[in-house]
Amino acid sequence: MSFPIVRHRRLRQNAGIRSMVRETVLHPEDLVQPIFVTYGSGVKSEISSMPGVFQFSLDTLKDEVDEIVQLGIPAVLLFGIPETKDSIGTSGFADDGIVQEATRLIKSWYPELLVIADTCLCEFTDHGHCGMVHTYERDGHVCGDVLNDESLELLVRTAVSQAKAGADIIAPSNMMDGFVQAIRSGLDEAGFQNVPIMSYSVKYASAFYGPFREAADSAPQFGDRKTYQMDPANVREALREAESDVLEGADMLMVKPAMAYLDVVRLLRDQFDLPIVAYNVSGEYSMIKAAAQQGWISEKAIVMELLTGMKRAGADIIITYFSKDAARWMR
Ligand code: PBG
Repeated sequence: MSFPIVRHRRLRQNAGIRSMVRETVLHPEDLVQPIFVTYGSGVKSEISSMPGVFQFSLDTLKDEVDEIVQLGIPAVLLFGIPETKDSIGTSGFADDGIVQEATRLIKSWYPELLVIADTCLCEFTDHGHCGMVHTYERDGHVCGDVLNDESLELLVRTAVSQAKAGADIIAPSNMMDGFVQAIRSGLDEAGFQNVPIMSYSVKYASAFYGPFREAADSAPQFGDRKTYQMDPANVREALREAESDVLEGADMLMVKPAMAYLDVVRLLRDQFDLPIVAYNVSGEYSMIKAAAQQGWISEKAIVMELLTGMKRAGADIIITYFSKDAARWMR
């Protein structure tokens, strides 16, 4: 009778051994919690497509930030819902804009908590695109082209105003060409040489952003984002995007979304030595929440498995709406 010589199960036989040989361990320090800040007062309104995620006005924000800090999460990513929108997103780069005010407030409460500012125009423009738009009518429909170079100047102004307000990290998510270089030199000229850029390097034109666009009130009013965000079918192009960001001075490279793009996370991890960030986006969150609410899956087990998978794929940092839950479960 022949027996297996190699027995993999030896190292799986109890929790102690499994823990000793575990290759990937999640920590609260790996996580970033997104926060939606809105104008007005007394607002804490749950986003219907993202149960457990809220828009906060500045006067209701403190408890949320307290909790994030107590859980040991080192960073927040801010998105703003402004009171007024216009064609160029003026409220996005106003010194008293909602993201700028929230940044000042959070840094005054917790100087050690890292504030990451999402640098984009789509939450602040009335047309909902991530840059400046040239609009025209075709067959009775409004159409538009998103203008690349004209948008860069506005994005630079946004990044500089965010840094001025005290943002620790600038995270540009607009997918214009040359945005890292433009923002890097704008920050440097304004004296912010030490503010790192976490670039949304590889951002796909994904249906998984649906719930976010409700949360941030940023759905495009015409057309889609396919002329600037990447085609989900492409991965060689991801390397080109990441490479140009490295050359332009990016300090961290992001892949977004995460779940359907872990091959891209792994590829970037293998090809570049910069920290890699995975963004576990709104639609990924909502799917899990919905299934959990139905009792079809075990939320805690599924979330921890997914986040572990992102880290195993090569992510050093994970942006997720589950950060608070995950940090709690890690205790
Ligand atoms: C802004 C931005 C978006 C997200 C992050 N920054 C929306 C978009 O590109 O449509 C999506 C985040 C999410 O779905 O959780 N450009």
